[in-house]
Amino acid sequence: MRTETDLRSPRHLWYKDAIVYCLDVESFQDGNGDGIGDFHGLLQRLDYLDGLGINTLWLLPFFPTPNRDNGYDVTDYYGVDPRLGTAGDFVEFLTAARERGLRVIIDLPVNHTSDQHPWFQEARRDEASRYHDYFVWSDTRPEDAEEGVVFPGVQEEVWTYDRTAKKYFFHRFYKHQPDLNIANPAVRAEIMRIMGYWLELGVSGFRLDAAPFLIELKGIDGADGQDPYEYLQEFRAFLSWRRGDAILLAEANVAPERVDEYFGPRPKMHMLFNFLVNQHLFLALARKDRTPLVKSLHMTPAIPGDCQWAHFLRNHDELDLGRLTEVQRTAIFQAFAPNENMRLYDRGIRRRLAPMLEGDVDRLRMAHSLLFTLPGTAILRYGDEIGMGDDLSLDERNAVRTAMQWSDAPNGGFSDAPPDSLQRPAIDSGPYSYEEVNVEAQTRDADSLLAWMERAIRARKENPEIGRGDLEILETNSPSVLAHACILDGRAVVAIHNLAEEEVTCRVDLSGMQGEELVNQLEVADRRAFEAELEVELPAYGFLWYRVH
Ligand code: GLC
Ligand code: CA
Repeated sequence: MRTETDLRSPRHLWYKDAIVYCLDVESFQDGNGDGIGDFHGLLQRLDYLDGLGINTLWLLPFFPTPNRDNGYDVTDYYGVDPRLGTAGDFVEFLTAARERGLRVIIDLPVNHTSDQHPWFQEARRDEASRYHDYFVWSDTRPEDAEEGVVFPGVQEEVWTYDRTAKKYFFHRFYKHQPDLNIANPAVRAEIMRIMGYWLELGVSGFRLDAAPFLIELKGIDGADGQDPYEYLQEFRAFLSWRRGDAILLAEANVAPERVDEYFGPRPKMHMLFNFLVNQHLFLALARKDRTPLVKSLHMTPAIPGDCQWAHFLRNHDELDLGRLTEVQRTAIFQAFAPNENMRLYDRGIRRRLAPMLEGDVDRLRMAHSLLFTLPGTAILRYGDEIGMGDDLSLDERNAVRTAMQWSDAPNGGFSDAPPDSLQRPAIDSGPYSYEEVNVEAQTRDADSLLAWMERAIRARKENPEIGRGDLEILETNSPSVLAHACILDGRAVVAIHNLAEEEVTCRVDLSGMQGEELVNQLEVADRRAFEAELEVELPAYGFLWYRVH
C-alpha cells in the first residue's frame, strides 16, 4: 500500500513526467539573418515545439563566450551571448515558453570558466586578488600533469603553465578552460548567486555540467577532509529554498556504486543522466540482443522516490562508450562507426542516431520507443525527431551540431544568410540533406518519423506509470525481444521491443500480473484479452505498448 507521503504518486513532481527537448540556440533558428541562431528565432519556433508535445526545454549554454567549446567556456554567467540576443530577448522567450506551458532548464557550466573570463584574467595578474583563489594553481608542474585528460587525442595535459601568473593552473578539459576552485566558499557563493539570478528570471532548473569534475578536489591545496558531495547538498538546499519546484539534473557519468552520493542521503540532485543504460542500449542495438540492456537496467541502483533517471539516445557530445569493455565497444564501433573518422577520444562515436541506424525509420522508431518506455524521463535531442544526420567534415563533436532542418529552402530554412556565413552549417548534400530530411515535409506526411514522434510523445504522457512506476523485466523466449513493465499502484504498462530485423513470434510471461484486457497504446487500435502467457508477433524492429486493464 502506498501512503500519503509516498512522493512517487503525487503529480507535483513535474520532472517525472517531463518530455525534455534539448537544443542549442545557436543552431536552431536564425531570427535576424546573420547566420547565427538566436532567441528571436527560437521564439518563432515555440509553436512547433509545443505541437511536438514536449513540455520542457533544456538550453545548452547561451552566455557570452569565446565559443571555443560550444559555449561551455563562459566569460559572464549573468549575460546572454550578444550574438544570440539580449537579456530582454531571453525574457521574451521565457515568457512565451511559459504561456505555452513549457518549462525551461538551462546549462550551468561552472566546473570551469573560459580563460577570458574577467575572474581568470584578474586571478592570473594578481596573486593578491580575491579571484586568484577562485582557480586551482601549482607553483611547479605536477608529476601527473598528463593524467586524466577528458579529450584524449586533442588535449595533452590537465595542468598548463600560465606565463602571467608564473604558475600552473588546473584544467580538467581544454586548456582554455581553467577549473574553478570548488573548495573556496566564495566560488560556491558565486555559483549559488548565478543560480539565484536565473531562477528569479523564471527558469525551472539547471543541467549541472560535468558534475563529478565540478566537485573533485584534485590539485586543491588545503581541501583535505572536505566532503565534496556536501557541495551538492548545499546547492540543492539553496535551489529549493529559492524555488521549490526547480530541479538539478547532473551530467555525471559515474559508476553505479557512486550514484547514491549524488542522490542522497540528504537531498542533492533530482536527476542524473543514465549513461550506463545509454551505453548498454547501444550495445543491445548493435548485437540485436536484449541481454546488455537488461543487465544495465538491473545494475541501475534504486533511487529515492523524488529522484529520477534521465534517459537519452544521443546528445551534443560523442556517444561515450567508456563504461563498456574493449570487446563490447568494438562491437558497437563495427556496427555503427565502421570508419575511424566516426570515432572520437578513443571511446566514442561522433555521429547522429539516424546515420548510425542507416536511416531505417522502423529502427529509429523502435530506438525512440525504447527511450520513451524506459523507467525515467526521456530527453530528446533537437533534430532527432526528424532523423537528422551528421557532418563528419566538421571537427570533433561539431559533426553532430549542424543547423536544424526546417524545410527545403536554402540553409534548410535555418537562416537567410549566405550558406558560407553560417556559424553552424546546414547539411546540404546526401541522404540527410535538408532537401531530404526536414520538418516541413514530415509535418505533412502522416507516416513520417515526426508524425510518429508526436503520437509516441502523446502516448508517453498518457502513461505516467513509465516515469513513476517500478520496473519489471518480463520473461520472453526470444533473445532479441525485450519485454518490460512499469507498474504503479497496481496499474501496469507493458512494452515489448524487437531489437532485430527478423520478424518474431514470441511468448511474454505476464503471469505475475492480473488483468482482463490489454489495450494497445500506440500504432493500432487493438484490444485483446489478457493472457498470463501472451503470444505476440513483431515485425522487423517492431514494438508494442500495452496497458493492462
Ligand atoms: C560537458 C559538456 C561538453 C563540454 C564539457 C566541458 O561534458 O557536455 O560539451 O565540452 O562539459 O565543459
Ligand atoms: Ca541571428
